[in-house]
Amino acid sequence: MSETQELELASNVGFTAPNGPFITTGDLHIETLDGQKLSQPKASLCRCGASAKKPFCDGTHRTSGFADPGEAAPAAKIDSPAPAGPLRVTMIPNGPLIAEGPLTVQNAHRQTIANNTTTALCRCGASASKPYCDGSHNSIGFEG
Ligand code: FES
Repeated sequence: MSETQELELASNVGFTAPNGPFITTGDLHIETLDGQKLSQPKASLCRCGASAKKPFCDGTHRTSGFADPGEAAPAAKIDSPAPAGPLRVTMIPNGPLIAEGPLTVQNAHRQTIANNTTTALCRCGASASKPYCDGSHNSIGFEG
């Protein structure tokens, strides 16, 4: 295995499932609103805002009417991936998920749209810039 392949395998990657969650793999350390700290290699993170198991997807998007095909275009300039490392995911009350650490963000075609070191991910379902938060959670009165 080449050094590049090893780096790719160790990296954190998240992609938008069409009309569904943000599926993330890597060295994930997730903190829930009730204080749980979970370390795991994979997580399906709710994007629709309706899951009863936030920040995780519970399948409610299938009945909540959530629609986002995950067609976000690549950023004009895509930075090189940051060195592999842990990804800390926290929930802002009534707001986005904050992913701190290297994260390759992909659209539904598994096309890289950004390599970030800090990412605010929409979890209310209302952002016009999915998968990112654009502040719309404030205007819709998102609670969760
Ligand atoms: S969490 Fe959806 S716009 Fe901020």
